[in-house]
Amino acid sequence: MNYTDKEKRFNRYTVTTALPYANGPLHIGHLAGVYVPADIYVRYLRLMGEDVVFIGGSDEHGVPITIKAKKEGITPQEVVDRYHGIIKKSFEDFGTSFDIYSRTSSDTHHKTASAFFKKLYEEGKFIEQSSEQYYDPEANQFLADRYITGTCPHCGNERAYGDQCEACGTSLNATDLINPKSALSGSAPILKETKHWFLPLEKYEGFMRGWILDGHKEWKANVYGQCKSWIDQGLQPRAVTRDLDWGVKVPIEGADGKVLYVWFDAPIGYISNTIELLPKTWEKYWKEKDSKLVHFIGKDNIVFHCIIFPAMLKAEGSFILPENVPANEFLNLEGDKISTSRNWAVWLHEYLEDFPGKQDVLKYVLCANAPETKDNDFTWKDFQTRNNSELVAILGNFVNRTMVLTHKYFEGKVPQRYELNDIDKSAIEEISLYPEKIGRSIENYRFREALSEMMNLARLGNKYLTECEPWKTFKTDLDRTKTALNISLQICANLAILSEPFLPFTAKKLQNMLNLEANSWTTAGKDNLLEVGHPINTPELLFERIEDAEIEAQVKKLLDTKKANEMENAVASPQKENIVFDDFAKVDIRTGTIIEAEKVAKTKKLLKLTIDTGIDKRTIVSGIAEYFEAKDIIGQQVSVLVNLAPKDLKGIESQGMILMAEDADGKLVFVSPTQKVVNGAEIR
Ligand code: 2FM
Ligand code: ZN
Repeated sequence: MNYTDKEKRFNRYTVTTALPYANGPLHIGHLAGVYVPADIYVRYLRLMGEDVVFIGGSDEHGVPITIKAKKEGITPQEVVDRYHGIIKKSFEDFGTSFDIYSRTSSDTHHKTASAFFKKLYEEGKFIEQSSEQYYDPEANQFLADRYITGTCPHCGNERAYGDQCEACGTSLNATDLINPKSALSGSAPILKETKHWFLPLEKYEGFMRGWILDGHKEWKANVYGQCKSWIDQGLQPRAVTRDLDWGVKVPIEGADGKVLYVWFDAPIGYISNTIELLPKTWEKYWKEKDSKLVHFIGKDNIVFHCIIFPAMLKAEGSFILPENVPANEFLNLEGDKISTSRNWAVWLHEYLEDFPGKQDVLKYVLCANAPETKDNDFTWKDFQTRNNSELVAILGNFVNRTMVLTHKYFEGKVPQRYELNDIDKSAIEEISLYPEKIGRSIENYRFREALSEMMNLARLGNKYLTECEPWKTFKTDLDRTKTALNISLQICANLAILSEPFLPFTAKKLQNMLNLEANSWTTAGKDNLLEVGHPINTPELLFERIEDAEIEAQVKKLLDTKKANEMENAVASPQKENIVFDDFAKVDIRTGTIIEAEKVAKTKKLLKLTIDTGIDKRTIVSGIAEYFEAKDIIGQQVSVLVNLAPKDLKGIESQGMILMAEDADGKLVFVSPTQKVVNGAEIR
C-alpha cells in the first residue's frame, strides 16, 4: 500500500464484514461498528486501484433463529428468508459496496463448511469427547444453553438463560442455573451423555502467542488486549458441534441430529461467499501470501476472529491468516445499550422512511462518532448538530458558494488563473497534502480522523473564499476573482474524490455537479483537476438543515418504546398479608366528583380538592399536583375513602383520601368507575 507500507507487500485485499444474524433487521449499531468503516476502507482501496474483494452475507444458523421460529410457529428457513431479504435491502439502500452479499444457508456454504470440517476430522485435528448435557425428556431433544432458563446463582433473576443472565450480565453454564427449566416444554431437563468434536485450542497457544502477541503489536489496543487476556488465561478445547437440527450437518457417520456449531460454520461463510463470487479465482484471495485478509467486526466477535477462526485456518493448513482485525467497541443509543429484543434501536429501514435520501448524513454521524476506541453514544441531538453545523455549514456551504459564484460571474465555466499570491500558494500546497493524510488514517483504521481531515479540506475552502472575497474583487480586480474561483473549484473537485469513501452519494452528486469523472485517489491532491473553460452543471444543495420538529419526533418514538418496555417489565409488588372480610367491611369507599380544585400554596405536590361525596361536600388534600392541573380535573369522578380519620396537611384539614393507581413510570391516574354513577355509591 502506498502511504503506510514502505515496501508494498500485498497485491490484493480480502475484506470481510461480520455476517449479521438473520433474525432481525439492521440498526445503527451494526453500521457504526462494522459496515461503515469497512465500506470506507474498501472504497478507498478501490480508488487506489487495488485488487479487492469485499465479502458480506447473513449468518443464518444458531439457536436464536430456531427459538424465533418456534415462537412464531414457522420454520427457521422462513425466519432467515425474511430477514436476509430485509438486511440485504438495507445494505443496498445504504450503498454498502459489497462484491457479494450471500448467506450461510446457501448450497455453496453447506458444501464448503462441510468439506472444511471433514478435512480436519480426517486429519485427526479434532478430539472426540462425551459429556453430560441437559436433555428434555418430553421434547426428546438435547437443549442448547439458550433453551434452558432458571434462577441466576449470582443475582437471583428467575429468568436467566443457560448461557447468560441478562439481568447481571454474567456468563453462565446451563448447569449453574438453579431450578433449570426447558424452554421447549417447561419441564425439568435431565442430564444425558452426548458425544461432540472439539478443536484443541491449547495446542495452538504457543503459535498464537508468537503470531499475535509478538507479531501483531500494531493491532488496536482493544483487540490486542482481549487476545492477550484469552491467551494468558490458557486456551481450552472448544466444541465445534452441537445437538440441534438447524445448521450444517456434521458430515460423518453416527452424527445424526448434530450440526456444526454456528461459530464454526459462520466464518467459513467468508470463504464460501468468495467461492460463490469467484468460483475460478477465489483461492488467490485466501491462500496466497501476498493477499491481505482484514476482518471488520464488533468487539463481541474478537475471540472468534482472532483466535478460534485462525486456529481453524491454521489446522486446515492452506489458508492465510488475518493481517488485521480492526474491531470496534459498541455504540449506545441515547445512553442505553442498543437491544433488538427491547426494540431500543434506530432501525435502518425506519430511518430511511423518516429521512429519505439522507444515507450519507447517518453514515457521516456514525463515522464522526464511531466507537473506535471506547463505547460511544448516538443521540438525535448530536445527529442534528453534526448535520446542521458540519455537513450543511461547512461542506455544503463551501461547495454551494463556489458553484453559485461561478455561475453568477462566469456562466458556469471554470475561469482562468492569473498570478498567484501567497494565499493561493499556501492553499494549493495544503490541497496537495490531503490525499496522503486521509489515506494514511484510513490505512491505519482511524476512520474518524480520516473523516475529520476530509472536512478540514472543506474548512480550508471556506477560509480561502473568505480571505479572497471574490465577490468584492469582482469590481476592482477581476483577475483575482477568476483565480480565487478557479482554486475554489479545484478544492471542490478534490472533495468530490476524497469524500467518496465516506459520503458516496454526496460524492456522486458533487461529481455530477462538477461534470467530473473521478475514479482515482492518486489524481487527487492536484490543483488542475478542472480545466479552464470546463463547464459545470447547475448547483444543487448537497445537504439541508434538519429542523427541531424532526428530531423531537425521533426522541418521542424512543420515549414511547421506553414506556412500552417499562409496562412490559413492570413487576407488581408482592401481595400483602391476608385479611378477613370484616376487616375489609370497615373500609368505606364511595364514588364522588371533584367540584373544585386549587394548588396548595408553597407546595409542589398538593392540590386542595372539594369533593361531592353524595354524603356531603368536603375538603380533601391530595398529592397529585405533579400530574394534574387543577383546572383540568373539575368534574372528574373518583373513588373516595370517606371514613379515613381527618388529618391536618399544611394547615388544611383533609377529610378522606381519593384512590389513585401508580403506572410503571410512577405517574398517578384516577381510579374511577368506567361509566358515571351517582355520587355516594358504595364501592365493594
Ligand atoms: O455476532 C454476530 O452477529 C455473528 N453473527 C457474527 C458472525 S461473523 C462471522 F463469523 F460470520
Ligand atoms: Zn444474574
